Amino acid sequence: MAKLIAAHPVVRGVRLTIQEPTLKVELDALWLRDHDESDKGKDPITGQRRTDTFSLPDDLEVRATEIQDEGGWLEVAWAEHLHTTRHSVGRILRAIAPDELDFPAPRLWERGHELAALPSVNWQAIQSPAGLQQLFEHMWVDGVCLVEGAQPSVQGTENFVRLVGYPRESIFGGMWTFGNTGEFSDSAYSSDALPLHTDGTYTFDPPGWQVFQCMEYDGTGGDSVLADGFAHVRALQAASLSRYQALCDISVIGEYHGDGVHLRASHPVVTEASSGRLRRVMFNNADRAPFRRSFDEVRRFYDAYRDLGHRFVAPGASKHCALRPGTILVVDNWRVLHGRTAFTGKRVMAGAYLNREDVESRWRHLTSS
Ligand SMILES: [Fe+2]
Repeated sequence: MAKLIAAHPVVRGVRLTIQEPTLKVELDALWLRDHDESDKGKDPITGQRRTDTFSLPDDLEVRATEIQDEGGWLEVAWAEHLHTTRHSVGRILRAIAPDELDFPAPRLWERGHELAALPSVNWQAIQSPAGLQQLFEHMWVDGVCLVEGAQPSVQGTENFVRLVGYPRESIFGGMWTFGNTGEFSDSAYSSDALPLHTDGTYTFDPPGWQVFQCMEYDGTGGDSVLADGFAHVRALQAASLSRYQALCDISVIGEYHGDGVHLRASHPVVTEASSGRLRRVMFNNADRAPFRRSFDEVRRFYDAYRDLGHRFVAPGASKHCALRPGTILVVDNWRVLHGRTAFTGKRVMAGAYLNREDVESRWRHLTSS
């Protein structure tokens, strides 16, 4: 448990020494006053800020500091009007540590065989918080997980979605079904092979996770194909820093035009998190709209983008999985690309998108002590 072991006023604020994790940190006076956790600064019921940030003076001066509650809290006395503020060590650590560190680090699989078998959990097992936590760990570490023993129906798929979040409404509905029906202006609704891609590049907030279940299958082909976007981006970065930088710098427009909508949004192919981890890989060549840059930038983009594209389709770069009724495939759409081999006969899928913040929220809730 983190504990405050030393606190001293300094010219601009306070200097703190914390144990477990061991670190020294200086916090600015204005920041401290703005983050007062006493009842004057923070509503004890809703946790919302009460401090009037805008009326705080610039020339704040710390008069004294006191460690309270066995190192769990800091009280700061201010020169101005004998004012005091309170600060929990947990909230201070929260402000210092990047959000990404809430999640287990990804274990990259640049080649399909590095993921010996797709991680899987059982439907019954994930009814308990510990079992559900296991599923989330697979998702953060490997970016993909199977759920075995699910009810092979839209309702069965929705039951799973509601265990980890809730279905996100999109042009395809909340819970969706698709087969080779041609119902939407999207190649998913055909029997053609689908090259590896991520979904929702045409939305400002691409879906966080995607869930698939094959409800009916009578034919040949139609395997799901998966590739770890993070692993291939890291391999590209190791080979060429300038290509990696181009993928982080240049925004690509995604577009969906049809079915009564005209959606457009732009994202760089690669987004880094503040911790230095990768945050998101967005890659959908079919939905990429024209964008115009200088001659140099156009070449810089194609050079990097085609390098990444070649890596995804290199022999052994992806993992195949033949989904059959009763098995749900969960994919981290911010990391793992999905596609499909061509098929004949009947293949009916159910699925849904989940918002990123909802699955992250569920994990924090499951793991908070
Ligand atoms: Fe897709």
